[in-house]
Amino acid sequence: MPSTSAIILAAGKGTRMKSATAKVLHETAGRPLLAWPMAAAQNAGVNRIVIVAGHQAEQVQQCFSHREGVTIALQKEQLGTGHAVACALPSLADQQDGTVLLLCGDTPLLTAETVQNLVAQHNNSSVAITVLTAKIPDPFGYGRIVRDGNGQVLRIVEQKDATDAELAINEINSGIYCINLAFLREYTGKISNDNAQGEYYLTDLVALAVANKLGCNAMLTDDYHEVMGVNDRIQLAEAASVLRRRINKKLMLSGVTLIDPEHTYIDADVTIGCDTVIWPGCVLRGNTVIGDNCLLESNVQVVDCQIGQRVHLKNSSVLEESKLADEVVVGPMAHLRPSTELAEQVKIGNFVETKKIKMGKNSKASHLTYLGDATVGSDVNIGCGTITCNYDGKNKYQTIIGDRVFIGSDVQLVAPVKVGSGALVAAGTTVTVDVPENALSLSRTPQLNKEGWCLKKRGND
Ligand code: UD1
Ligand code: CA
Repeated sequence: MPSTSAIILAAGKGTRMKSATAKVLHETAGRPLLAWPMAAAQNAGVNRIVIVAGHQAEQVQQCFSHREGVTIALQKEQLGTGHAVACALPSLADQQDGTVLLLCGDTPLLTAETVQNLVAQHNNSSVAITVLTAKIPDPFGYGRIVRDGNGQVLRIVEQKDATDAELAINEINSGIYCINLAFLREYTGKISNDNAQGEYYLTDLVALAVANKLGCNAMLTDDYHEVMGVNDRIQLAEAASVLRRRINKKLMLSGVTLIDPEHTYIDADVTIGCDTVIWPGCVLRGNTVIGDNCLLESNVQVVDCQIGQRVHLKNSSVLEESKLADEVVVGPMAHLRPSTELAEQVKIGNFVETKKIKMGKNSKASHLTYLGDATVGSDVNIGCGTITCNYDGKNKYQTIIGDRVFIGSDVQLVAPVKVGSGALVAAGTTVTVDVPENALSLSRTPQLNKEGWCLKKRGND
């Protein structure tokens, strides 16, 4: 296969998004918009990508410049799609002739399969350009594909330059093309801006190829949704919903049960093991990995977590940047904040919050507890209402709890503090000094019962 690189146009303003964020950086199913056509190109085997940035270029640069095989070309002034491509060409100066795939940054539904077909069709032909087209119910706004009596593509005419007869054509230009690099180098500079918008139209290359007998073919997609662009937040939501449906379908076919796939929100880069069951309202984000045979009850939110096998996440729990080993049980309504690491069979119950902790095998904090900046051994029981007092208003301190410790209810552990293995901390204790191994720790004022005191107080003795 001749060498193929891609140019992705993303310098436009995206006015209709009404946003301070560059349009192509708006997130859809866990990735910025632009990452989707990029992935389609990469998955189709295109490894070298030039992104043309203009409006909010610094944001685009920050997000994509470090990715492998990606170069950012700057288009300072947006003088049209033809001009945008001209700005990208110097970045391909060292590439031998071959094929260039041209994509738009705002078409997240384009699949790798379609890209692959387009590239293959182009490379099997001798034409200078192959354009991806679609027949859509409402072609308003798109460039139309003008063909001759034999069905040969003659040119593309933009909405604003079209005659009434041309406006009646329902085959549109997707803005996605394969073009011979040698042709692109020779002819991009020959595009004029003599048109209704005073822009350099990339689409004029088609007429130039035809006039010079270099040929242009069209490849008509059967699913026009694939080439639909995102211009406003309504289309953003529509695209996200199509992507989610694809993600969920793939997961279900790989052995994951989604009780209600229409109400399950899973980012593109999440992986989930076989026989895991997910109830509605779950939101699984980022680079989350979930093992086999897990159960996620409704409204669980998981962001960037690694979760083992047979883990049970009960209703409305929130997990962020945490690691859970096999057979952990969490929730309902627990909050695992970043750097929570739970070993096998740990149980974190209702209204428990954790942050920067490690908890050993089979330890439990079943109710109403805050554990922050702590190391907890294995087989530990943390009683209801326990609090690690980790913060003095300035600094954070560590609490270290050994194996087989029993912490009674309503205990405060004022860090820095250590509780030795096998110790028992009685209910209501405020631990301020280290507890030795196997000791009982108790800090309570002795209880006083005054017989009949209430009767006297009420004056009815
Ligand atoms: C373009 C096509 C039209 C096609 C449609 C498909 C041209 C002249 N017209 O029209 O035939 O039906 O896409 O969606 O090409 N861009 C730049 N720099 C610029 C101008 C645009 O990078 O100077 C980028 C935009 O960010 C966008 C893409 O190019 O990603 C398309 O630009 P846009 O202005 O949306 O073109 P359309 O008018 O939609
Ligand atoms: Ca557009």
